[in-house]
Amino acid sequence: MDDRKKSAGFGVVAGAVAALALLGAVGLFVVYTGAYNVAATEEHASVTRWAFDTTFHNSVERRADGIVAPESVTSEMVAAGAESYKSMCEHCHAGPGVERSKWASGMRPRPPHLAEAAAKWEPEEVFWIVRHGVKMSGMPAFGPTYDDETLWDIVAFVKQLPALTPEQYAALGDATAQGGGHQGGSGQDGGAHEGSTSGSGGTGSGQAN
Ligand code: HEC
Repeated sequence: MDDRKKSAGFGVVAGAVAALALLGAVGLFVVYTGAYNVAATEEHASVTRWAFDTTFHNSVERRADGIVAPESVTSEMVAAGAESYKSMCEHCHAGPGVERSKWASGMRPRPPHLAEAAAKWEPEEVFWIVRHGVKMSGMPAFGPTYDDETLWDIVAFVKQLPALTPEQYAALGDATAQGGGHQGGSGQDGGAHEGSTSGSGGTGSGQAN
């Protein structure tokens, strides 16, 4: 009786070891023979995409847990964040009325339009993603080169992004394009709320708080 149990147990262990060895061998085969096509001109297989997305979401959710967002979001933060977004993110993630750079469409995974994708992440999660980046995706880590304040400004702006019209987007944080010269970074109540009285024609988002 006991002996039979023992040998059944041995069989299971031996089977598992053999299966693992086979998996390892297949893995090494793929790694060393170049069987896997790394070309970014092809979409990821759906199983690869699923594994990447699921790992990505769960990893971010778990790690963003302890992060505490600033208590309130001001229009100054949004305006400063808009300026940073346009120079650091727009070429990959586009914006209302603005396409991503041509070259960024050649990335796999392709950087999503944040005007849509940002809505599904909490501010703390966006902060984590921007600060740490995402391995194997092309999403850079900005934490090593920018301070937290700059990153929270960007988060404040990114969370407004889904609600912005192209006109509001164009007017925000754009210090150079406006005629009035009182726009970008202006500490007054300009920026996010009222747009600018000259030029933009926009009504401002009024979303800042
Ligand atoms: C070089 C291109 C590039 C730049 C620059 C870049 N990103 Fe990304 N970003 C990516 C890629 C690629 C992904 C992953 C997309 C995926 O997995 O579907 C990503 C993912 C994200 C995500 C998660 C979106 C989602 O749902 O998949 C957020 C949020 C994000 N980036 C914010 C930013 C912000 C904010 C900036 C600027 C500070 C920025 N990114 C700059 C390429 C870039």
